[in-house]
Amino acid sequence: MCGIVGYIGSGEAAEFLLEGLSKLEYRGYDSAGIAVYDGSDVRVEKSVGRLAALRDKIREDMPKGSLGIGHTRWATHGRPSDSNAHPHTDCSGDFVIVHNGIIENYLGLKEDLIEKGHAFKSETDTEVVAHLLEEVYNGDFEASVREVLRRIEGSYSLVFMSKKHPDRLICTKQDNPLVIGLGEGENFVASDIPAIIARTRRTFIMNDGEVAVVRKDSIEITNRRGEPVTKKVFEVNWNAEAAEKGGYEHFMLKEIHEQPKAVRDTMSQRIAKDGSAIVMDELKWDAEFLNSFNKIYIVACGTAYHAGLVGKFYIEKLARIVVEVDVASEFRYRDPVVDENTLLIVVSQSGETSDTLAALKESKRLGAKTLAITNVVGSSIAREADQVLYTWAGPEIAVASTKAYTTQLVLMFMLALYMAEIKKTVKPERCRELISLLKKLPSQVSETLSDVEPIKTFAKHYGFNEDVFYIGRSLDYDVALEGALKLKEVSYIHAEAYAAGELKHGTLALIIEGVPVIALATQKSVYEKTLSNIKEVKARDAVVIGIAAEGDEELEKYVDHVMKVPETDELLIPLLTVVPLQLLAYYAAITRGCDVDKPRNLAKSVTVE
Ligand code: AGP
Repeated sequence: MCGIVGYIGSGEAAEFLLEGLSKLEYRGYDSAGIAVYDGSDVRVEKSVGRLAALRDKIREDMPKGSLGIGHTRWATHGRPSDSNAHPHTDCSGDFVIVHNGIIENYLGLKEDLIEKGHAFKSETDTEVVAHLLEEVYNGDFEASVREVLRRIEGSYSLVFMSKKHPDRLICTKQDNPLVIGLGEGENFVASDIPAIIARTRRTFIMNDGEVAVVRKDSIEITNRRGEPVTKKVFEVNWNAEAAEKGGYEHFMLKEIHEQPKAVRDTMSQRIAKDGSAIVMDELKWDAEFLNSFNKIYIVACGTAYHAGLVGKFYIEKLARIVVEVDVASEFRYRDPVVDENTLLIVVSQSGETSDTLAALKESKRLGAKTLAITNVVGSSIAREADQVLYTWAGPEIAVASTKAYTTQLVLMFMLALYMAEIKKTVKPERCRELISLLKKLPSQVSETLSDVEPIKTFAKHYGFNEDVFYIGRSLDYDVALEGALKLKEVSYIHAEAYAAGELKHGTLALIIEGVPVIALATQKSVYEKTLSNIKEVKARDAVVIGIAAEGDEELEKYVDHVMKVPETDELLIPLLTVVPLQLLAYYAAITRGCDVDKPRNLAKSVTVE
């Protein structure tokens, strides 16, 4: 996620802007910039790379002035570069803005503004907002900002600055965080509390649709309808480190709880307005392209590999194209059959995993068409692949991948449905039905996060076992693999996932009295079979925690505990069943006193073979 800061007061704006941005570095970014009004003009300084590069650039000649805004950019539209870094200005330089989020309708607005003569300097969605403000400006800064807000769609936190109105900042938010820090004769704006906590602990937490006019000695906040809002001062009692985690104890828990927004952001621009089809402007595939290959490989590592297994199921089920999935560290060493009739899809949160990057390069050398699914704009894998689909999960800091996994699943589901629409292997009414269910997922993920107490209890009770088994069939098996990896990597418990039908071929020998078995039973097509496997382990006195869909009244008769997730199509339910497994792993790690965000021996991105 991008980081935003703003300052208005009597002190040096640049000093706070750089200090505030440094406190937001944990959010991940690829470029940074500040804009300061010096009493007559606005000076904008920005730089790709780390904040240190920006500091070095201006060290000898710091911008002077007591009004300013700053930004660290996590690229979504437009690669990391000086020109794409924020702040962005309109043609005249009268208006300067910083933005966190996604302006979904920016392309249409940009075309319209270019026709009206606006000259753009960047590839970003954000710059459209600056030119739009210039276009609608009628002398009333706040009213003009409101007109802009009426025309843009998407998620945003925005801070506006203008040399025509140097006595104020205007800020607003929709689906992205924004706080105002209350100082003495000065006020601060930031996308997150860590940026301001060293200056003040008294804050206003902005709500969606609110517009704040921030002067150095006053703050006026109104709601979407322009009615005055009385805000209660929120006293921040977190320490700086806790503030970076948004009040959560660990990044892993914060990122688990960010999944509803991450899933919503990843799907939001890729569904046609009328809900009839998936839109993949990044790909522009057609039947000819789909007929140009006769095999798909999905190659990845770890959690991304587990997402690839689900992707295989989706593409074969919906688009009826053969898919093979492999771990990247094996793929290129088994002399795979790859040629110009192959489509290689690589999946990687970081976009830097060396085995995955190497598999991509080798496949390109052999003539394959390549597509990357990654969370980092401008990453090595993003740059190497012929085409890229970005998950918009925002930076994932914890070593254990959680929101990246669910956004990879949702993106692969949409890719599979997109291919099916082109190949006409799914009827239009089925497409509409699946898209309608897809749009409900963010709120359903929220629902699975609403009551974590039972999971905390399980984790406390079973967190000291040394062996745990996960079983399931079909998509439940794929999710079981991910659940086992989560538990292994953060709690150091030996967890194994097995295809439930495989138990009798060996693993059952390990099932003895009291061994915890997490049994996923949501796939209706194999439900009875899974139930009989559960009975097998119960007959050996295992302790079974079942994961079922809401409407299932049967499973609880055969297991010791059951956790239910909201009903949805069995294709989509993996995005829900994985959430209790993520939480189980997290709380088991807490129970065992493990270093949750930085597990022993592991790195967030494995950039060596
Ligand atoms: C997942 O929780 C692990 N941290 C690890 O398996 C990770 O998924 C794997 O290293 C792949 O990383 P990538 O998605 O950045 O390529």
